[in-house]
Amino acid sequence: MAVGAAFTTPAPTPAPVSVIASAESYLHSLVILTSMLKETLEEGRKITDAALEKLLPGPDVRPASIHRAMRHSVFAGGKRIRPILCMEAGCAVAGSLPTGIQEVGAALEMLHTYSLIHDDLPALDNDDLRRGRPTCHKAFGEATAILAGDALQTQAYEVLARSQCPPEARVKIIEEIARGTGTINGMIGGQVVDLESEHKKPDQETLQYIHLSKTAALITASVVSGGLYAGGSEEQIKQLRCYGQSIGLAFQIVDDILDVTQTSEQLGKTAGKDLASEKATYPALFGLEESRKRAAELLTSACDALRTFGSRAETLETIARFLIERKN
Ligand code: IPE
Ligand code: IPE
Ligand code: MG
Ligand code: MG
Ligand code: MG
Repeated sequence: MAVGAAFTTPAPTPAPVSVIASAESYLHSLVILTSMLKETLEEGRKITDAALEKLLPGPDVRPASIHRAMRHSVFAGGKRIRPILCMEAGCAVAGSLPTGIQEVGAALEMLHTYSLIHDDLPALDNDDLRRGRPTCHKAFGEATAILAGDALQTQAYEVLARSQCPPEARVKIIEEIARGTGTINGMIGGQVVDLESEHKKPDQETLQYIHLSKTAALITASVVSGGLYAGGSEEQIKQLRCYGQSIGLAFQIVDDILDVTQTSEQLGKTAGKDLASEKATYPALFGLEESRKRAAELLTSACDALRTFGSRAETLETIARFLIERKN
């Protein structure tokens, strides 16, 4: 504001009492929602970490080097978004947290961490920093890092095979997650096209393919798995899938935006990396403003998909909002 402007601006007309009251109650519910979200994320992280601690081999189990490498990357922090989404989808279907679902969440986090270890390798994104720590290959060498990623993947399927839901749901969950991390519209397929698109200006269709596959597919599989674990109907699974795809695509758009707008310290990973590697990203193709707009539109689609769940899906809605507004 220019100096002196405060003296020339006319005093605003006081707002009617009803407007003030509704603004106050809006702010009040915003404060409650924010603290509820904080609690949900914190609680989800704790439950996931306890399950991971129980399910992963200890640091001294032979061969110690690989178990230490796996634990280095898994227990470096991380938002635990995929397990939290899985558990919350289970809650939306069942009305409360289904017994044992945190083990499916832990398996999803193992798969996600494997994808990060491999994503950081010199042959892929060649990154030195992850979750605020040196990347797995920097700390343990490339061979051990490759094997640590492989080991997290096999460990995840061992955990999924033993999960405590009815056998029919268990098989569907394993299929869903294997497909979501596979080559056809799955995580690995997306990573392949991501690498092949470096140093090229991508077309819109290719960019959407990359993001839906490398990121949204595992996020969708996490949400759908939670629904399947809780015995969701076909219609409920369909709606959860729509929600997952929308927030999954938005999640990677926001990841692209944060790469441009945040510092490495804030992200716990190297900022500005996408530009340096000439990656196919939303900001590169559309600019920051349009990318933000698209993420916001996807948030609306995600929330629309949850309508059939009514108030049971309030937390999934709040998480979707958090995923768009997050700063790391
Ligand atoms: C980073 O995922 C990789 C992407 C798919 C964008 P997260 O942002 O969930 O990373 P962590 O698990 O919190 O470290
Ligand atoms: C990675 O996308 C998606 C994965 C499947 C791991 P990015 O390469 O953008 O993820 P970050 O930014 O390194 O976490
Ligand atoms: Mg990458
Ligand atoms: Mg990367
Ligand atoms: Mg990124």
